[in-house]
Amino acid sequence: MKIGAPRETEPGEARVALTPESAGRLQKLGYECLVESGAGAAASISDDAYKAAGVKVVKTAAALWKEADIIVKVRAPGLDEVKKAPEGKTLISFVWPAQNEDLLAKLNDKRMTVLAMDMVPRISRAQKMDALSSMANIAGYRAVIEAGNNFGRFFTGQVTAAGKVPPAKVLVVGAGVAGLAAIGTSVALGAITYAFDVRPEVAEQIESMGAEFVYLDFEEEQTDGAETGGYAKPSSPEFREKQLAKFRELAPEVDIVITTALIPGRPAPKLWLEDMVKAMKPGSVVVDLAAERGGNCDLTVPNEKVVSENGVTIVGYTDFPSRMATQSSNLYATNIRHMMDDLTPKKDGVPFVNMEDDVIRGALVCHEGAITFPPPPPKVKAIAAQPKKREAEETPEQKAAREAAQLKASLDRTAKLLAVGGGLLLLVGTVAPASFMQHFIVFVLSCFVGFHVIWGVAHSLHTPLMAITNAISSIIIVGALLQIGSSDSMVTNLAAFSILIAAVNIFGGFLVTRRMLAMFQKS
Ligand code: NAI
Repeated sequence: MKIGAPRETEPGEARVALTPESAGRLQKLGYECLVESGAGAAASISDDAYKAAGVKVVKTAAALWKEADIIVKVRAPGLDEVKKAPEGKTLISFVWPAQNEDLLAKLNDKRMTVLAMDMVPRISRAQKMDALSSMANIAGYRAVIEAGNNFGRFFTGQVTAAGKVPPAKVLVVGAGVAGLAAIGTSVALGAITYAFDVRPEVAEQIESMGAEFVYLDFEEEQTDGAETGGYAKPSSPEFREKQLAKFRELAPEVDIVITTALIPGRPAPKLWLEDMVKAMKPGSVVVDLAAERGGNCDLTVPNEKVVSENGVTIVGYTDFPSRMATQSSNLYATNIRHMMDDLTPKKDGVPFVNMEDDVIRGALVCHEGAITFPPPPPKVKAIAAQPKKREAEETPEQKAAREAAQLKASLDRTAKLLAVGGGLLLLVGTVAPASFMQHFIVFVLSCFVGFHVIWGVAHSLHTPLMAITNAISSIIIVGALLQIGSSDSMVTNLAAFSILIAAVNIFGGFLVTRRMLAMFQKS
């Protein structure tokens, strides 16, 4: 079948749903790819680049809609676009079915099979298709860049011959996907970064990124994200008051505020009020990512940049991903490609709408002349909900029984291993000389004990563990150097081999440790 990407019709939309790279992967799934001429121009992808990747470039949108069986788009099609579309096509794009009932009905009238990228459920398996997350990640990054563009100072502090520059102070409100991306970017640019979220479970993530979590002095600070599938619930009025009081306290201090707070299905909560903007220093910047849902800031004007009376710039753009069209087209096209992977289990270029597949069922909003939105709740729980749910469901007796069963299974495994190992040792002992057996038993026991000790080490301790294995490797090298001059070629070869393996371990360990440390380093 043929997959085609038309040029986006929404004014100012620069993204495209198919890239030469994603087309290559779709061709491997058995599809032919088409693109409307100029569709990638705003994302710096020329028609020639598509042609080089074996994509057919067609002149008009009408020709593309006619020829392609599957249409991939970024924005929901306009009513006009649907009116002109031939019947029975498959459409994959953002649709926002809850807000666009009219569009949904029109798509269904055309007997289209429609998969809404914004309806992909937030479960682990679907992360690679989660276009909302990939776009929010870009929006978070771009929000910081946009703030920097409107801010008259450095992010990082500097001591120069011309004077001392204090670092900028950035507050990120809401630490979901966009918020965490903003925190990462702001910390990387050297600003002192504070972050707040109603879900305290993100505090650790925020702090591990080098930012400071803003704690409130409030008893029921926790609004249990697990109950709502990993998303936050609206907070109580008392909590909100505490939160606003904290923001009022921070307002005169911070230079840049990036707000990303959102509760799905609701207008954005108003969190940065007019008096807080008034309390900010002239030249400060507020970037309101929630502008599309009404904004977190009182003074936000969606799609515009305004300057308050006291000189605070408030950015309310709603097209941040489109402002980084090359990057966002690449990620979005990859999300679509993964969706096609799921839709084409036989890799034969024919999509199969599997209603048992949580991801496909979740995203499917129209199929075979019926509106299939809203989908039933997914069988798999949301990512953040999993561990909490299980703990909550277990009674103390059940927990004790589960732990006892786990211990018994582990003891059984160890006993079997010892029996088999002991048998093998006896077998070797019948043929090998006594001096060899002494060393061999020590060797086997150290392997056994070493394996059990290392297996039990928590992930967070792997870096210090690597340092210890490096030390052990050094001892091995010293031993091997003492043996390498032996007249027995077998001993020399073994010593050389030990030096090689230990060296790989040492240098590999250093490289991995360096990379891990770099992840937590403040710039
Ligand atoms: P998300 O749902 O992952 O994160 C929202 C966060 O806000 C959650 O961590 C939630 O706990 C937190 N939150 C909710 N109420 C809060 C409160 N009262 N105080 C503090 N935190 C609160 O959403 P995501 O994907 O990170 O998107 C964030 C926002 O960015 C959304 O409004 C989304 O529409 C917007 N967005 C804007 C774009 C643009 O171009 N302007 C592009 C992409 C996303």
